[in-house]
Amino acid sequence: MLDYSHVLARNEFRTFRQHFEDRLAERANPQRHGDLPTWLDILGSLPIASPSQILLNAGAITIGAHDDLTPELAQQLEMGLKKLSPWRKGPYQVFNSYIDTEWRSDWKWNRVQPHISDLSGRKVLDVGCGTGYHCWRMLGDGAEYVLGIDPSMRFQVQYLCIQKYINDNRFDFLPIGIEDMPNNMHLFDTAFSMGVLYHRRNPINHLVEMKNLMAPGGELVLETLIIDDLIDGIFTPKDRYAKMRNVWSIMTVEKISALLEQAGFHDIRCVDTGVTSLSEQRSTEWMSFHSLEQFLDPLNHTKTIEGYPAPKRGIFIANKAP
Ligand SMILES: C[S@@+](CC[C@H](N)C(=O)[O-])C[C@H]1O[C@@H](n2cnc3c(N)ncnc32)[C@H](O)[C@@H]1O
Repeated sequence: MLDYSHVLARNEFRTFRQHFEDRLAERANPQRHGDLPTWLDILGSLPIASPSQILLNAGAITIGAHDDLTPELAQQLEMGLKKLSPWRKGPYQVFNSYIDTEWRSDWKWNRVQPHISDLSGRKVLDVGCGTGYHCWRMLGDGAEYVLGIDPSMRFQVQYLCIQKYINDNRFDFLPIGIEDMPNNMHLFDTAFSMGVLYHRRNPINHLVEMKNLMAPGGELVLETLIIDDLIDGIFTPKDRYAKMRNVWSIMTVEKISALLEQAGFHDIRCVDTGVTSLSEQRSTEWMSFHSLEQFLDPLNHTKTIEGYPAPKRGIFIANKAP
């Protein structure tokens, strides 16, 4: 149904072709995703169009301009894109349609980007890439090639909508998890793990997996939830955290730095911390379900609805030995 042969034919991935084919056969199996055929029909129904411009290096990823499409085609596009809601990571301006996603992912990029090494000429990996918003920004900042991976098929189809118009073979997205990656690639010059660590049951394993995907001397960019001042540095929510079921642990800056060291990274630095604001994660026309505001204590926004400290995030940079 979905064809990844052009990705696996790349020089970088040839040695691992069989491994990827096996993992993709399982992950992208249409039997596992009841909605996939409908989503692919919607993708196929989006109008064919050639954008007059592509902007990848500011705010909304921008495809085309208002005059590129007739009003009928613009309406057809908007209806198709809306049917693929919820749109969580963005924003995107696709011709006349402004996809106002749940997250202002551009704000995260603004916090991360000043601290990382120049991406020019680098091979980049983005683990848990969502719709691929940050991958487009990485290309906009000069990356030679970006591979995004994320097991969510909805995100994969949303990426395909954007790629349908940008049509850039410097960014591929495979619908797999980090555990599906070969463990001996040693390939990527910069590897991002943003918003993933707390979803992994074994955080140190995640960091070691990241390291094994990276080229010698490569740079890790880790963005994750953090918590202040705990005696043992690690907090394990009893059940849900901010209504999320799959948050296994949240650690202090010191604990995360120690884990990075234990995983074999060096030059470890925490370059940014901050509480997530209600303007960065919120319900919109394109994501009409509950969002951060409903996940916090209505009388005290410094606490989650479960009474835990409200989401705070940190950005860490670390290097793999040359
Ligand atoms: C909180 S979102 C973060 C998305 C994006 N990186 C960002 O920072 O905005 C976490 C993402 O990780 C993905 N994810 C969950 N488990 C994963 C795994 N084992 N390997 C790779 N990605 C995973 C989810 O599907 C989701 O898109």
